Amino acid sequence: ERPDALPRDLEGRRIVVSAGGTREPLDPVRFLGNRSSGKQGYAIARLAAQRGAQVTLIAGYTAELADPAAVDVVRVRTAQDLKAAVDKAARHADAVVMAAAVADFRPSSVATAKIKKGADEPDTIPLTRNDDILAGLVASRGAGELPGACAIVGFAAETGDAQGDVLTHARSKLARKGCDLLVVNAVGEGKAFEVDDNSGWILGADGSERALAHGSKSLMASRVLDATAALLAAGGG
Ligand code: CTP
Ligand code: CA
Repeated sequence: ERPDALPRDLEGRRIVVSAGGTREPLDPVRFLGNRSSGKQGYAIARLAAQRGAQVTLIAGYTAELADPAAVDVVRVRTAQDLKAAVDKAARHADAVVMAAAVADFRPSSVATAKIKKGADEPDTIPLTRNDDILAGLVASRGAGELPGACAIVGFAAETGDAQGDVLTHARSKLARKGCDLLVVNAVGEGKAFEVDDNSGWILGADGSERALAHGSKSLMASRVLDATAALLAAGGG
């Protein structure tokens, strides 16, 4: 789509998007990481700017991606860095979209020198839980600390399992996190548990459920921004 054919429905809105994966250091040369490419978050940031928003993209590690035009890009490494950057940007934001793949755990201590084989080699890596950034935003908003934040959007990649199908897990994640929208991707082995061909849904805290037909990341981005723009409009902005 040509940018000049897009709606300008996010004009004047300040939107923070996180994207990519974090890396949690273990020693000077090693880390715990994940396979996030960052493509979905970048697509959302790019399109939000094209629809008129003032966008801050907080990017962890990604595939090689060009910075989207007219977007402020802040680079982060660890989940703790990401939290600090998101919390800071969120203070002045109308919406926060958490597309980043945040490490749930970090090594409890970081060795100052490279860990070597031999008599002192570890056989386990003690881990510490990282703060939940999304849930923290919801809590801050509840405490009145985010005057502008009308919309908080989370992402979840889910598989079905013996406890329930993708939607069941996603609905309970939405309730647990307390965000306004949860963008759900059905992934992996658990797909066998799905009831139809949909690859995802956008679940709303108001109980709304929009199915997302399998499509490109930019189509997904436009659906996410449509839902976010609707929330912002309803918020009286
Ligand atoms: N998220 C976050 N901070 C974390 C972990 C996740 O803000 N420490 C955000 C992600 O960016 C995403 C949403 O929470 O928008 C859901 O992430 P997910 O990993 O699916 O949720 P978790 O609560 O970590 O649940 P799980 O145990 O299934 O990984
Ligand atoms: Ca997680």
